[in-house]
Amino acid sequence: SVRVKQIEAGSKKKLVSPRTIDDDGSFKMVASKDWTSGFFPGELWYMYEYTKDDYWKSKAQEFTANIEDQKTNGGTHDMGFKMYCSFGNGYRLTQNTAYKNILLESATTLITRYKPTIGCIRSWDHSRDKWQCPVIIDNMMNLELLYWAFKETGDSVYYDIATNHARTTIKNHFRDDYSSYHVIDYDTINGEVLHKHTHQGYNHESAWGRGQAWGLYGYTMCYRETKLSEFLTQAENIADYIFTNPTLPDDMVTYWDFNAPNIPNEPRDASAAACTASALYELDGYLPGNHYKETADKIMESLGSPVYRAKVGTNGNFILMHSVGSIPHGQEIDVPLNYADYYFLEGLMRKRDLEKK
Ligand code: GLY
Repeated sequence: SVRVKQIEAGSKKKLVSPRTIDDDGSFKMVASKDWTSGFFPGELWYMYEYTKDDYWKSKAQEFTANIEDQKTNGGTHDMGFKMYCSFGNGYRLTQNTAYKNILLESATTLITRYKPTIGCIRSWDHSRDKWQCPVIIDNMMNLELLYWAFKETGDSVYYDIATNHARTTIKNHFRDDYSSYHVIDYDTINGEVLHKHTHQGYNHESAWGRGQAWGLYGYTMCYRETKLSEFLTQAENIADYIFTNPTLPDDMVTYWDFNAPNIPNEPRDASAAACTASALYELDGYLPGNHYKETADKIMESLGSPVYRAKVGTNGNFILMHSVGSIPHGQEIDVPLNYADYYFLEGLMRKRDLEKK
């Protein structure tokens, strides 16, 4: 049975969304401001899309409504993760005007973080002792909300900010082998790169596993939204890095960092694998000669096997086991994570839609 910690010690914030299980096995809920608060509502929308059952729709509406307050939270770049996975899927499936207005307000809030001299949206405000203006590869995922806002409003400001961010990230986040750094720190006055760091990877020069997945998914999505060939090439190069890497395991569920020192005795990250597979189903449509669908199928088959997919009623009722939050911080190592489940469900939907054609 699952124990629920309703109130985190010292916090009066309402806990609204399941994220993972804690070290003691208890179910961990987060407040709306957590970067992962939108994934569970998003999963519920995918369940509704798949089943057409109003039960899932009403649950999706309930969990989505709980994070509406984030539309004015300009303190982080995670707006896309939170709002586009939840309200974005909700709007796609229901055309609810209230959702549309919430998403537009969210996009307007997100672009307040754009720094024109750098050409990027600032990711974090924390760790000011280390970084002046940190931009993380994860931020590529938040651009989808801005491209959506451009399509809805016709206002090119959203398109231009997203595209500039993606271009600046190609310039500064990637190494010659198309692996990416996690954190690029910029000088706010002249826009120059100050540091190339990691936060959740093995070291500054390593390729953090989920970071490569965020990049692959991000540039595939940017190509969908802009049809700029530079973004398609970037996605293809990132896929090449991942799938020609000597550490790639037979089951294609990658290690938490491509340069982790004790491979093969290092944790895998199912969340990175799920995000990668979902991206590959889309990329397959743009580069049909590269067999990305077959690769995605192989990853999904692994994730769907008993090695990664939990028995119903175990694993805190999350779908997948064996994800990693942050090894350097000693947090969430080899656990379920809501974003692994979200991208797994998204991947299943994309697989189904591809096979329907
Ligand atoms: N965006 C934070 C992470 O991927 O862990």
